[in-house]
Amino acid sequence: MPLLNFWRLYALIYDSLLKIIPYRQLIEKVVAELEIKSDLTIFDAGCGTGNVIKKIEEKYSGDFKIKIHAIDVETAMLNRAVGKIKKNHVRFWLCDLNEGLPFPNKTFHRIICVNALYALNNPDLAIQRFRRVLKNKGEIIIVNPCSKNLVAILKEHIFIILSKKNIISFLKFLIDLPLFVLLIVFNIIILFKAKKKIYHFLSEKILAEKMSKFGFKILKLEKVYGSTCVFLKAQKI
Ligand SMILES: C[S@@+](CC[C@H](N)C(=O)[O-])C[C@H]1O[C@@H](n2cnc3c(N)ncnc32)[C@H](O)[C@@H]1O
Repeated sequence: MPLLNFWRLYALIYDSLLKIIPYRQLIEKVVAELEIKSDLTIFDAGCGTGNVIKKIEEKYSGDFKIKIHAIDVETAMLNRAVGKIKKNHVRFWLCDLNEGLPFPNKTFHRIICVNALYALNNPDLAIQRFRRVLKNKGEIIIVNPCSKNLVAILKEHIFIILSKKNIISFLKFLIDLPLFVLLIVFNIIILFKAKKKIYHFLSEKILAEKMSKFGFKILKLEKVYGSTCVFLKAQKI
């Protein structure tokens, strides 16, 4: 593996995304939609720096025995995730999702794959593998980019800040601007790779069709994150 690959570099500033309100709202929505009401085993595919897991931990700490298996291909992302998760209910795996999943059939009650499916070589194959490791009637949440309109996320962020009419929030936004510019640079690279068909942005319709084709019933389908991503929740049938 090259010393400086894209995800290793992105890991350096990835958590600056937490300063962006629509990103925080997205993570909150994913965790709310997991609808955890009992002890569950969850798989986070492409967990990055562990922001979804952290939110699960905050929301359900002590309520249920939740076991989480989290895979990412990039050590720098995983190191950050390990650093922020307190409980020992999470097992992190340094794995390449392109090479299959190290789990037996029907292991998980829930799977989440937030903004990682697009980066895989073959999303169709990944979806079929997710189905294999999901229990019958288990649910999957996929968030995947559908639009190349980066500005929409920042516009939504600025709109929320301005609607708060809070000068401190606005000053914080100005201070964070250089970080936002860096985030934009990384996302321009992602857009470039999507244009070259190395990454796979999928419309609502196409993602829903794939999921139905591979044995899922669609439970929810909507645009999120400044309408730049599709949010899909589906059940294994
Ligand atoms: C945009 S980040 C999303 C991280 C996290 N899910 C979130 O929502 O904050 C994409 C993640 O997918 C990981 N990734 C990319 N290709 C992968 C692969 N082939 N196998 C496993 N993880 C991969 C990257 O390392 C990165 O952490």
